[in-house]
Amino acid sequence: MKKVAWDKSFNIGVDIIDKAHAELFRIIHKMIDLSDDASTTRHTCKELLKYLEAYSMAHFAEEEEYMRSIRYAGYAHHKQIHDHFRDETLVSLKKELELSDYAPRVIHHLTDTMQNWLVEHIMKEDQAIVKKTVVRKSCHCSGQTDLISRAVGHALQDVFHVEAKLVNPDYKGRSIGNAFYCQQCYDIEDGLRLRLFLGVEKPLLHRGLEKIYGKRRLPPPSDDRPADEILLQVFEPLFAHMEPFFQGHTVHALDADSLLDTDDFRTSFMKGCHCSLLFGSKSGYFVFCYRTWRTKH
Ligand SMILES: [Fe+2]
Repeated sequence: MKKVAWDKSFNIGVDIIDKAHAELFRIIHKMIDLSDDASTTRHTCKELLKYLEAYSMAHFAEEEEYMRSIRYAGYAHHKQIHDHFRDETLVSLKKELELSDYAPRVIHHLTDTMQNWLVEHIMKEDQAIVKKTVVRKSCHCSGQTDLISRAVGHALQDVFHVEAKLVNPDYKGRSIGNAFYCQQCYDIEDGLRLRLFLGVEKPLLHRGLEKIYGKRRLPPPSDDRPADEILLQVFEPLFAHMEPFFQGHTVHALDADSLLDTDDFRTSFMKGCHCSLLFGSKSGYFVFCYRTWRTKH
């Protein structure tokens, strides 16, 4: 199972809270390792889960105390989220685990749910305590949505030969099925950088490959992820269509490191996007998101 790597951007700048978040990730990662190991006993899992629960509760209490100490205006809402996690989410995950007698697939489900909850919670709610959050407004690009939609429409017509239309101007990053993602960074003006994420649902990607290879020479169908160089052949022309739109230069050339799987994309998405659009076509969904930030003051 995929572990979300710890990253400095998770820090909110309050030492005691940041250390606890890092420890929570460490415990969840340990649990992922245990669930991947066939020799793990039910007892070991149970003990680690007990520790994870106790640690989370102590951390919630500490964080709530900190919020009260600074008279944080969002305290009641934030506490409600902690309470809901403790009384609903965790209770149902534990019940599921007991009923399955600690089956590895259920442990996976638990660690997956907890990891996603933690990433989303830190990036949205905890960062908001210190107002560090990148507030994801409905769409900062709302004035440009028509322009972007046209550019995306041309790109999809050219690369996939499909008509696409905007189906959600405030896409929240929810799963759209099996999809592939790629990112590219641009310097768009002095000191302003933009990271663009594009996502292509698998049937749409397949259609793009048909256009490149022709039906006969298409690489054999596989349930797995296509090779990096094949994925990049689809993403390169898509980004080429977007480049003039941003009038910037790319920071690095596209390569295998630019490719993201669904978990990587979700983690990046949680850090906030200023523009987040979902397009639909008869062959599948297409995701277009970006965020900008200042690299110097
Ligand atoms: Fe929190």
